[in-house]
Amino acid sequence: MKPIIAPSILSANFGHLEQDFEMLNRSESDWIHVDIMDGVFVPNISFGFPVLKHVARMTDKPLDVHLMIVQPEKFINEVKALGTKVMNVHYECCPHLHRVVQQIREAGMEPGVTINPSTPVSMLQDIIEELYVVQVMSVNPGFGGQKFIPHSVEKVRQLRDLISQTNAKALIEVDGGVNLSTGARLVEAGADVLVAGNAIFAAPDPELAIHQLKNL
Ligand code: DX5
Ligand code: ZN
Repeated sequence: MKPIIAPSILSANFGHLEQDFEMLNRSESDWIHVDIMDGVFVPNISFGFPVLKHVARMTDKPLDVHLMIVQPEKFINEVKALGTKVMNVHYECCPHLHRVVQQIREAGMEPGVTINPSTPVSMLQDIIEELYVVQVMSVNPGFGGQKFIPHSVEKVRQLRDLISQTNAKALIEVDGGVNLSTGARLVEAGADVLVAGNAIFAAPDPELAIHQLKNL
């Protein structure tokens, strides 16, 4: 099965965003990955809802919104208003994760949970059956263009095992340092969704880079 490709617009050119979206809309990309950062959970701030309201109108592709913020449950309505398909919250930000997952579903979105590089896959054992997607961070969240952490491949294998041992149907998504070489290793280990920022937007031909990721 070909992976779902989710370009991260964190690496897009916000000075000429329409051009980048024309490319994304033409391309073989499946979802659009939107990184929201609060400067508290992660040491960076990206963009907020007043900006994203306009950005979301530039595409009909499903939005995969990755919230790198504390208390993400406060913004369920705002995320929903963007037309979001997948609302991805961090395990590390949600002491009442089960409740947040239910709230995301009740709002009509698909729940995703993201784990940091230092969070073991086993922490998801009691929630995995409730999830549409699990996202493995393969860099420490906060910035695009970082180096892939090789242990992430092993975490994808562990997740694949956990999913097959339960009734879970969760997709496995990987975010950070994904390129043609790390992408191939991740798909081989069982990844379903590849997020890529730098490997797409810094490529000489971003549309070709998406095609190559889709056809690893
Ligand atoms: C990092 C973000 C990523 C980022 C990935 O905190 O969550 O989605 O945009 O960028 P690359 O693919 O350049 O590592
Ligand atoms: Zn992300």
